[in-house]
Amino acid sequence: MDLGLADRTIVVTGGSSGVGLATVRALLDEGARVATCGRDAGRLARAADWTGAGHDRLLTGVCDVRDAASVSRFVRRTAEEFGGVDGLVNNAGQSRMKGLDDSTADDWRDELELKFAGVLNPLHAARPYLAASGAASVVNINAVLAKQPETRLITTSAARAGILNLSKSLSAELAGDGIRVNSVCLGLIDTGQWTRRHAAAGSGTAYEDWQAELAADRGVALGRLGRADEVAYAVVALLSPRASYITGTSIDVCGGIGRSIL
Ligand SMILES: NC(=O)c1ccc[n+]([C@@H]2O[C@H](COP(=O)([O-])OP(=O)(O)OC[C@H]3O[C@@H](n4cnc5c(N)ncnc54)[C@H](OP(=O)(O)O)[C@@H]3O)[C@@H](O)[C@H]2O)c1
Repeated sequence: MDLGLADRTIVVTGGSSGVGLATVRALLDEGARVATCGRDAGRLARAADWTGAGHDRLLTGVCDVRDAASVSRFVRRTAEEFGGVDGLVNNAGQSRMKGLDDSTADDWRDELELKFAGVLNPLHAARPYLAASGAASVVNINAVLAKQPETRLITTSAARAGILNLSKSLSAELAGDGIRVNSVCLGLIDTGQWTRRHAAAGSGTAYEDWQAELAADRGVALGRLGRADEVAYAVVALLSPRASYITGTSIDVCGGIGRSIL
């Protein structure tokens, strides 16, 4: 099936690694032009090299999604070089492994800032271009934590729930501009986040065995962590103009984690 993404321009935040990079790759495979950002120039350059895409298809920019001015410059440059913006994937970020008793006021403030600025800054910057697109789609990368909070990730769970709520409001607010807004809620996806945690745990258990134990402990029905490309598939589907009647909803990509049917 032709997803209708050829020559459309999609901005993906945090595309130098993991889910963002897999999404960049999948979009390039569909013939889209992609712009992506991250804080580390070296990681971005290595990621761009890995895709094999030329400057006419892939634009990179160093910026922190918490910094509205630099996000705005990055999105404006994208629109100028590629002739507009048709889609936005708010992916950049990471989770915070903290419970109630070890979360400081700074943890709460930093987590809420990252999660909300990570959606609102790129959206404000891209909104005029998206409104002019005629087939605009925003995908907010979220977590099943938004619906099934974990006490060991208390700040992230609360922030994620807020973002899911915000996404619903945005879908209603932006429908009049022809902009669809949806969420993809992740379970445990095998990316840099988990390799870093495995290294930090220093348990001596091989990574594959550690992953299997993790999946069992968290009740993942499929018994394994997901791959970033398995997330990218859902993101690309929501970005496609063929998903023209899908807005204000969320898709879980989580291997059947948990027992909720909501
Ligand atoms: N993996 C999972 O199991 C899982 C589960 C639920 C939700 N998620 C969410 O999915 C998204 C992608 O995670 P991932 O697992 O793919 O992580 P990852 O491999 O660590 O990639 C994160 C990407 O975001 C960029 N980034 C982080 N903070 C940023 C900032 N403030 N401004 C700009 N770029 C930033 C990183 O580049 P720099 O570090 O160079 O900036 C990197 O490109 C995150 O929002 C994460 O919270 C992941």
